[in-house]
Amino acid sequence: MKAWILTQQNTFPSLQDTQFQTSNDLVSVELKSSALNHRDVWITKGLYPNINLPVILGSDGAGVHEGKSVLINPGIGWGKNENVQDDAFHILGMPTNGTFAEITQVPQENLFSIPDHLDFNEAAALPLAGVTAFRALITKCRPEKKSRILITGIGGGVALLSMQFALAVGCEVFVTSGSDDKLKQAMALGAAGGVNYTHEGWMKKLLSQTGGFDIIIDSAAGPHFNELLKLCRPGGIISIYGGSSGNIEKLNPQLLFWRQITITGSTMGSDQDFKFMMAFTEQHKIKPVIDSVFDFTQLDKALERMQQGKQFGKIVLKIKD
Ligand SMILES: NC(=O)c1ccc[n+]([C@@H]2O[C@H](COP(=O)([O-])OP(=O)(O)OC[C@H]3O[C@@H](n4cnc5c(N)ncnc54)[C@H](OP(=O)(O)O)[C@@H]3O)[C@@H](O)[C@H]2O)c1
Repeated sequence: MKAWILTQQNTFPSLQDTQFQTSNDLVSVELKSSALNHRDVWITKGLYPNINLPVILGSDGAGVHEGKSVLINPGIGWGKNENVQDDAFHILGMPTNGTFAEITQVPQENLFSIPDHLDFNEAAALPLAGVTAFRALITKCRPEKKSRILITGIGGGVALLSMQFALAVGCEVFVTSGSDDKLKQAMALGAAGGVNYTHEGWMKKLLSQTGGFDIIIDSAAGPHFNELLKLCRPGGIISIYGGSSGNIEKLNPQLLFWRQITITGSTMGSDQDFKFMMAFTEQHKIKPVIDSVFDFTQLDKALERMQQGKQFGKIVLKIKD
C-alpha cells in the first residue's frame, strides 16, 4: 500500500510503498478520506512530546471495513476514568501508524458507522476535532440554551465544531480570529459577532459589545490570556484545549478568585464523549466545515496550508473515490 511516512523531524513526510505488520487485535480500514489536525504540523516540526519515528501520520479517517462505511475514533485506550485518560492513552497517527495511507489498522471498538448525512470527506473531518470540541464545550462547561459563549481562533477545526455544537444547543456565540474574512464566514454560519484579535483594543470592544461570557473555549493561551479572564463573567468557565500562542504569562490571581472563575483543561475525549458526540452530531445533522480537499498525492501542500493558518475549517485528504 501507499502511505505518507515521516522519517525525520523538521521535514515533510514522503509518499512511499510500504507494508504494515498485521495484528490480530486490530482491524483494517480501507481509507477513502483522511483529515489534518494541527498535531500533524506540530509533529513534523518536532514540537510534540515523545515523537517516535518512522511513522505514518494522520489521526482522522473514514473508509470501508467489511463492506460497511466507517469513521475512526482516534483516541485509543482512554480507560475507565471519565475525568482523565490512562497513561497508556494514545492518539492514532503517532506513536501508532495513522491515516495518511491507503489502509490503516485500529481496534474494532474504535469504528463507528458514518451518519447518513455525512459523506466520506465530512466523516473524516469529524472525529478528532469533534470529540475535542465536544468534551471542551459540552462535557466540561455544560452550556445551556442562551449561554453566551466566546470561541477564540474560529478558523480552526476544533473551534468551528465547538461553534456548531454551541449553536445546536441554542447558545449565543461570539468569536475571535486573526482574519476579518474568517469573522465574516463565522457570522454567516450563525455567530452573533466577532473581533479580530490582532487589532488594538479587541478585548474592550468585545466586552462593551457583550458584557462578558459565561463560557470561553480557547486554544491559544499565551500572553493575552488575562484578556480572557477579563472577558469571563463572574462564575464563568474557561476551557483550554490548546496552547498555540505559548505559555500563560502573569496570570492575575485577583481576577480569578474574586470573580470565582473556573479554568479547566481538556484533551480529546473519553469513549463515552465520542459516543455522545456522534449521537449529538447525528441528532442535529451537523456537518464539519471543510476548508479544502487535497488529492492523496498532495499532503505536503495540505500541511503547508495548515502551517500558514490560512484555513477556515478542516483540511481533507481525498485518498480514494
Ligand atoms: N488537547 C487536545 O486534545 C487537542 C485536540 C485538538 C487540537 N488541539 C490543539 O488546539 C490547537 C488548534 O488545533 P486545530 O487542529 O483546531 O488547529 P487548526 O485547524 O490549525 O487551527 C488553528 C487555529 O488557531 C487559531 N489561532 C492561532 N493563533 C491564535 C491566537 N493568537 N489567538 C486565538 N486563536 C489563534 C487560528 O485561528 P484564526 O485563523 O481564526 O485566527 C487557527 O485557525 C492546536 O494547538 C492543537 O494542538 C488540542
